[in-house]
Amino acid sequence: MVNEIVFADSSVAFVGEFSESDVERFCRSIDVGKIFVITDENVDKHIASSFSLGPKRTIKPGEASKSIEEWSNIQNWLAESGADRDSCVLAIGGGVVTDLAGFAAATYMRGIEWIAIATSLMAQLDAAHGGKTGIDLPSGKNLVGSFHMPRAVWCNPKHLETLPGRELRNGLAEAIKYGYIFQPQLLEQLKANPPPYEPIVKTCIELKAKVVRADPRERTGQRAVLNFGHTVAHAIESAMHYQGILHGEAVMIGMIVEAKIGTRLGISDPELPDSLKRMAEVCRLPMELPKILSAKILVDAMKNDKKASNGRLAMSLLERVGECRLVKDIDESIVQEVLESA
Ligand SMILES: NC(=O)c1ccc[n+]([C@@H]2O[C@H](COP(=O)([O-])OP(=O)(O)OC[C@H]3O[C@@H](n4cnc5c(N)ncnc54)[C@H](O)[C@@H]3O)[C@@H](O)[C@H]2O)c1
Ligand SMILES: [Zn+2]
Repeated sequence: MVNEIVFADSSVAFVGEFSESDVERFCRSIDVGKIFVITDENVDKHIASSFSLGPKRTIKPGEASKSIEEWSNIQNWLAESGADRDSCVLAIGGGVVTDLAGFAAATYMRGIEWIAIATSLMAQLDAAHGGKTGIDLPSGKNLVGSFHMPRAVWCNPKHLETLPGRELRNGLAEAIKYGYIFQPQLLEQLKANPPPYEPIVKTCIELKAKVVRADPRERTGQRAVLNFGHTVAHAIESAMHYQGILHGEAVMIGMIVEAKIGTRLGISDPELPDSLKRMAEVCRLPMELPKILSAKILVDAMKNDKKASNGRLAMSLLERVGECRLVKDIDESIVQEVLESA
């Protein structure tokens, strides 16, 4: 059975087992023309090769493909293959493919429709939804992009069967974040071994949909709560040049460190850091800052974060489970102090 979640105006998510003909029927119902499939080599091997909805472009797996070069290759491929304004991009893959293919759709002929079959846990419960699409620059991640809602995101729990264990745990970190920000019951489901992925994915999508509907372009601060753990996570990832650590792993460490900062500022419940550490342990995610990173390097990286304004630090801090808010103007020396002792 496939569950349908209305994500936003003209954007739905489907969670459950589906077939290629379900996707084809949906495309006909929204009246798009030719379909252009974008996937990566791993996903092609396990999933995309059995889809034949249209011409296909297969990229190299990994963050390095979220580049101007790959974006430009896709634009040329679309043009040379006869894509027009009625065409639709079908992204089949994890967050790298959905970010890149979504951005290609956002920019080709000033924007054509796109849909996604999200195949990693990270993409199913977070990355593919909400319309943030983009690519990286040598100077930073996701610096070029656009808000462009997919018409549909399809999430099949069966597709997770071929996902490597580390990638599954990577996705779990983002689900832990949703549990702490909005819904403590989710944390109980996450403690199961193996966790029930389908209901977890469904809950995270519903929670994200609520926030995105309230603040589609991250203007009012409501959408910013989804960044819990992310100020520190982005600093870790950037200081490590996006090597050796996955985004979800950095988010898990980031949530623990931000909970410590929140405690130090008198904002967060003092129980929070230990509670997060217990979740990290259950889900076999890292909880310590990589030893090679100094507090200074991390603070400098945070000042370059998109949420910082004029070099002043901002973080989405949790008061207690279920209550998170964006805190601006955080004293740099307190952050430095917490990082030194973390
Ligand atoms: N747009 C957003 O709102 C948003 C949110 C969070 C993350 N992101 C982006 O998402 C990206 C990370 O996404 P990700 O963690 O899915 O990484 P990914 O797309 O690189 O996928 C992880 C790995 O798993 C492989 N894979 C994917 N599905 C598979 C399957 N079913 N079977 C076997 N292998 C499979 C991929 O080939 C890749 O090697 C980052 O670029 C991040 O910036 C975007
Ligand atoms: Zn994230």
